[in-house]
Amino acid sequence: MELFPVCLFLLAAFTAASSAGPQESNRYVAAGSKTITMELPAGILVSKPDKLIWKRNGSLVYIKGNKNAINNKFTVSPNWALNVPAAELQVVGQVDVYTLEVHDTQGKEKVTMKTILHLLEKVRTPTLTINCMDKDNAVFTCFATFHR
Ligand SMILES: *[C@@H]1O[C@H](CO)[C@@H](O)[C@H](O)[C@H]1NC(C)=O
Repeated sequence: MELFPVCLFLLAAFTAASSAGPQESNRYVAAGSKTITMELPAGILVSKPDKLIWKRNGSLVYIKGNKNAINNKFTVSPNWALNVPAAELQVVGQVDVYTLEVHDTQGKEKVTMKTILHLLEKVRTPTLTINCMDKDNAVFTCFATFHR
């Protein structure tokens, strides 16, 4: 089971190459996972007067300045990261689009980040094989079967 994140990483690395735009990304999580956190992009500083909202599938989830999320299933960390609770991560195959929008007081966009969250089937204990080709190169092969 400890090897599971390695598989997700390989899958994510493979699909990331085909996604559009620098601020749009795919994220893969096993259905049944614990709470996950949607962090802000690195280097984004949100100042006190900035406007910040989180949406899921286009529906407002949180507006900065509010103590609690509009959709009370969610919570927001002090650094404005959105916490998606386990209860929202149950359905295998579900795809949700999470959007973060930050604007300054002039209404100028600071960042719009779209994260497409895919809930995957939990894999059985995967097999990881490592073949060392020479002292600098190795081939990692991760194999897993899925629950039916
Ligand atoms: C978000 O939209 C997708 C695509 O329409 C849908 O499959 C999914 O169930 C929606 N998520 C929620 C939480 O409604």
